[in-house]
Amino acid sequence: MDSLDEYIRSHIDPEGDYLHRLYRDTQLRLSYGQMASGHVQGRLLKMLTRMVRPKLAVELGTFSGYSALCIAEGLAEGALLHTFEIYDEQEDFTRPWLEGSAYADRIRFHIGDALRMIPEMGLTDIDMAFIDADKRHYIEFYEMLLPRMRPGGFIIADNTLWYGHVIEEHTRESDQQTLGIKAFNDLLAHDPRVEKVIVPVRDGLTLIQVLPQ
Ligand SMILES: C[S@@+](CC[C@H](N)C(=O)[O-])C[C@H]1O[C@@H](n2cnc3c(N)ncnc32)[C@H](O)[C@@H]1O
Repeated sequence: MDSLDEYIRSHIDPEGDYLHRLYRDTQLRLSYGQMASGHVQGRLLKMLTRMVRPKLAVELGTFSGYSALCIAEGLAEGALLHTFEIYDEQEDFTRPWLEGSAYADRIRFHIGDALRMIPEMGLTDIDMAFIDADKRHYIEFYEMLLPRMRPGGFIIADNTLWYGHVIEEHTRESDQQTLGIKAFNDLLAHDPRVEKVIVPVRDGLTLIQVLPQ
């Protein structure tokens, strides 16, 4: 699997020097550095952004800013990404990386709970949303976003295969993250408001299109 990953990485666009350095700095200086999207998923996020052509995009869960920069890279001139991070101690690391990038003018970085801030800011007509925050609250993020999405817009949810734990028959009550992802996947499977496909890239990405009601 590692050599297949290596093969993929060497046959797609490079991530570029800035993202490469950010990824390395993330691994060196932050706990849970593996949460950053990384080369392959990052290039996919950029490509999906190009395909969707959002005017307004939101990201729930900034962490070190890797995926935010990939989404911003795919945005057209004049489009905006609002990205939200609940952990305020993350700001000192992430803000300089976002503000020092070539895409700083397309990114608004907010510290706070996305679940509360997106409604408070009155963000509506969202064209693209990337859900990558607390796995226990995916259903709440999704239900908060749905009425705020432009019909035909796309929600992308990360980690929806959750290291394969989603296929465990019995999940411990204490494993709230697996329970959260499983409940989200089960809800989506039967949700007529959207079309969806799970793409088994990295830890699973679900692509969701919001249907006109
Ligand atoms: C998996 S990391 C994000 C990784 C990043 N999107 C990337 O791909 O490079 C999840 C982040 O979401 C943040 N988070 C968790 N709950 C949140 C919430 N309700 N609102 C905003 N951020 C949240 C966490 O603090 C953590 O930094």
